Amino acid sequence: MTAPRFAAFAADFQTLVDGAVDEAAILSAGAALLRDLVAKDDWLPEAYAAPDLARYRQYLLYRDPPSRFSIVSFVWGPGQATPVHDHRVWGLVGVLRGAELVQRYRRDDSGGLHATGPAVRLAAGEVDAVSPRVGDIHSVANAHDDRASVSIHVYGADIGAVERATYNNAGQPKRFVSGYAPLEPLLP
Ligand code: FE2
Repeated sequence: MTAPRFAAFAADFQTLVDGAVDEAAILSAGAALLRDLVAKDDWLPEAYAAPDLARYRQYLLYRDPPSRFSIVSFVWGPGQATPVHDHRVWGLVGVLRGAELVQRYRRDDSGGLHATGPAVRLAAGEVDAVSPRVGDIHSVANAHDDRASVSIHVYGADIGAVERATYNNAGQPKRFVSGYAPLEPLLP
């Protein structure tokens, strides 16, 4: 059975995207919806919060039928981290369990990558945003080295199918399509 809180969130997000005039409206109203969803860690079935020993996992929870947005759970095992990467679409990140360290980057005109400030710690209940407009390049790490952390992300596309990039230390992009962990969506 789908957790009612999650089904209500997906329906509310659908309504928001149906009526939103622009990305800024989605990010601000969507952040409020996501903050409500991650305020209580009582709804995500354990199958969608299972870490993998080898690398962080991304489970599809819901995909809007025309792929205007998707909702995923990200699960970091102890000490796991993403490479530096971009998204190419708007995204919201809400921490459900544990804590994450987010390092943001910007590209200069010659393509070099520069960290913008120190890493930011996002605790359970907190929400962050990304997009080409507000800052799209970051790396994310589990703040804990002794337990998993879980966050809920909403993106303005079927994010597992989006062609985007990871970046090496020299700032060189490498094509990246994330896919999803092999599990049916929580909400069909
Ligand atoms: Fe990201």
